[in-house]
Amino acid sequence: MSELDRRSFLSWMAASPLLAALPSHADEPGFATTAANALDVFDLERIAERNIPVAHWAYLQTGVDHDDTLRRNREGFERLYIRARRLVGVENRDMRARIFGREWPTPILLAPAGSQRAFHADAELATARAAAARKHLQVLSSVSSTAVEEVNKAGGEPVWYQLYPSSEWDVTQAVVRRVAAAGCPVLVLTVDLPWSTNRLTAQRGAAADTRVCNSCHAPEGQAPPVKPMYQGTSFRPEMFDAPALTWGFIARLRDITQMQIVVKGITTEEDARLCLSHGVDAVWVSNHGGRAEGSGQATIDALPEVAGAVAGRIPVILDSGIRRGTDIFKALARGADVVAIGRPYLWGLGALGQEGVERALEILTNELDMAMRLSGTPRLADIGPSSIGGPM
Ligand code: FNR
Ligand code: LAC
Repeated sequence: MSELDRRSFLSWMAASPLLAALPSHADEPGFATTAANALDVFDLERIAERNIPVAHWAYLQTGVDHDDTLRRNREGFERLYIRARRLVGVENRDMRARIFGREWPTPILLAPAGSQRAFHADAELATARAAAARKHLQVLSSVSSTAVEEVNKAGGEPVWYQLYPSSEWDVTQAVVRRVAAAGCPVLVLTVDLPWSTNRLTAQRGAAADTRVCNSCHAPEGQAPPVKPMYQGTSFRPEMFDAPALTWGFIARLRDITQMQIVVKGITTEEDARLCLSHGVDAVWVSNHGGRAEGSGQATIDALPEVAGAVAGRIPVILDSGIRRGTDIFKALARGADVVAIGRPYLWGLGALGQEGVERALEILTNELDMAMRLSGTPRLADIGPSSIGGPM
């Protein structure tokens, strides 16, 4: 972000009449105002809600329709329980996770999320610095506010890059070439979002916030600015609306790149098998945090059939609804190799920038460690189907 953009963003935030009108929680007993006293990711959510303009907040929080699938993601985790084993020596715990031959200190990834400048002026750069400081894998969105080269520099190594399929093959090729040249080892192809979805919470927030944010949006009547990763291409906003796309897109991608390909947005065993037969390198179980088709299904409930079909041949990643260490534990028990978080780190970003993202990661890591200690499963490999119970 240029200094000018940054100043205009900050002055827009500061001039916000809605900001002043928002209720202040700061006087409430126990309300966290710093990273250190945020006790869980929901404390970061409350700080972020105070900081982020109403329209952007609604974009961050929205699901689709009545936000039912968003809620189902949480309820899916809540219905499961942990079957704790006792008198297991747990003094040495190990939550290292491997994916594509690379070892990470925890199984927690940062999911791709677009337009992070809407939540904090430092946007994806703050996320990259936090990911580097705490050694987590960051996945960068196609529609990021910051170009991949800058993000890679801030994080000290190349991110995984998330790609939306599009009807413009030239644009796809140009972006894939660019991220390969930037050193990104993995492409994450998101297949669950045919772009326009029924995001009523976002629409209501946008209607309630009539200010003009010229650093991110175009003035009335003008086309929105092209996101950094599509600048210099023949980008058209309609290109993401690509109903003719099929599994053949994966074969075409394979032809133009050596990068590993992960498919994000899988929720059925049929599609998991198609991923295998199309030579996909990992499956990412996701419903886009309840922002895609409004299936009414929690991803934790889709996980067993996907993991069953994959049967350990390729890694399985799960996201949507993870808010606690115990949720991560349940996802691993149901067959995920690693998990990803979206809103929890975006709340951290909106609350306190890099420090807030770091705190979200620290909280979830500590909670997972506690869950492992208290349930007699000191190593990730000890967490399995018998570690949980509940509706199957
Ligand atoms: C997303 N997500 C997303 N996914 C993707 O593949 N490309 C993207 O650009 C975005 N953008 C995006 C923006 C915002 C504001 C949110 C909340 C989410 C989906 C994201 O990668 C992930 O699947 C969900 O966020 C996971 O659910 P939770 O953790 O937010 O419940
Ligand atoms: C979203 C898009 C950017 O979920 O993936 O908002």
